Amino acid sequence: MLTPDLLERAVEILRQGGVVALPTETVYGLAANAEDELAVRRVFAIKGRPATHPLIVHIPGVEALPDWARDIPEEARRLAAAFWPGPLTLVLPRTARATDAVTGGQDTVALRVPAHPIAHAVLSALGGGLAAPSANRFGRVSPTTAPHVREDLGAEVDLVLDGGPCTVGVESTIVDLSSGEPAILRPGGLASEEVERVLGRPVPIRTASTVRVSGSLASHYAPRAGVVLVEPAEALAKAEGLRAQGLRVGVLGPSSLVLPPDFPRFEVPEDPAGAARYLYMRLREADQAGLEMLVACLPPARGLGLAVRDRLSRAAAPRPPGA
Ligand code: TXA
Ligand code: MG
Repeated sequence: MLTPDLLERAVEILRQGGVVALPTETVYGLAANAEDELAVRRVFAIKGRPATHPLIVHIPGVEALPDWARDIPEEARRLAAAFWPGPLTLVLPRTARATDAVTGGQDTVALRVPAHPIAHAVLSALGGGLAAPSANRFGRVSPTTAPHVREDLGAEVDLVLDGGPCTVGVESTIVDLSSGEPAILRPGGLASEEVERVLGRPVPIRTASTVRVSGSLASHYAPRAGVVLVEPAEALAKAEGLRAQGLRVGVLGPSSLVLPPDFPRFEVPEDPAGAARYLYMRLREADQAGLEMLVACLPPARGLGLAVRDRLSRAAAPRPPGA
C-alpha cells in the first residue's frame, strides 16, 4: 500500500538523486530521476550493468511524449493511444532532455507509460521522467515481487515500494519506431499480434539487432540452475535422462504435465499469459530448491508465449565463464 507519507518520501529521495525500487505491471524497476546524471549512473552501478546499455525512461502520460522524443511518427501515436499506460516501450529519436547517461549515447530514447498505480503515482508527483531498468543484477532473473528486489539489491537501494506481485510478469514489449519500418526489439508483456493489429501490418521481431539492447545478449534472464528447453511431450523422458546422470533435476511446465511425484515441479498456468505471469517467480523457486538442471517446457508460440520462449531461450543459452 502506498500511503501519502511513503509517496512523499519516495519523491523526495528521487529529487535528491536517490534510487527507489518500485512496482510496475511488468516487473519491478530500479528508478532514478532521468535528468539527474549522477543518479542514473548509480542505477548502472547498483545493477552492475555496462554504461552503454540504455535505460527505458518512464513518463506519467502520453502528453509528456514530445518532451523526450521528436519526429514522432503517426504509428507511434497510434500505439501509444491503444496501449499506454501498459507494457509497451517505444524507441524514438530523442530530444535533449534524454541525456547520454540514459541513452548510452544513442540518438534514440526508449519511452514507456507504466500502468501500475504506484509507478503512476510516483511519476505524477515527481512530474518528470524515471529511468528504470528491471531491479535485478545484470543478467539475472527480473524481480516480480518486492522481496525479490530486497534479495537481489536490498541494502543498496534507498527505498523499496511494495505493490504486491506484478500482474504481467515479463518486461515490456519494445517497438522501434525510430527509422520508418517498425520492428519489435524485445517480445514482452504486450502480444506482438496486438501491435500488428493496431498498425495494420506485419511487424518483424528483430532481437539480434545492431542497437545495444541488453536483452539481446545471448545469456540473460538466467537462473543459477542450467536450463534445457523441451516441448511438453518430451519433458518426462528428458528429466529422467538427466537424473540418471546423477543431476538434481526439476521440471517447469503446465499443470497438465504428468510427472512422477518425486520430481520437483514448478508449475505455470497452461495459457501463455499465465505462464508469463509466473515465469520469473518459478525460476527463482527452482534456484532456491538447489536444482542443477531445470527442464523447461516451451509454451505455444503465440501471444505472451513469444516473450516466455524468448526469456527461456536466453536462460538456456551458453553462459560466459564465471556467470
Ligand atoms: O517492463 C520493462 O520494460 C521494465 C520495467 C521496469 O519498466 N524495464 C526494463 O528495463 O525491462 P531494462 O533496462 O531491464 O531493459 C530495457 C531495454 C534494454 O534491453 C535496453 O537495451 C532497451 O530497453 N533500450 C533502451 N533504450 C533503447 C534504445 N534507445 N534503443 C534500443 N533499445 C533500447
Ligand atoms: Mg532487465
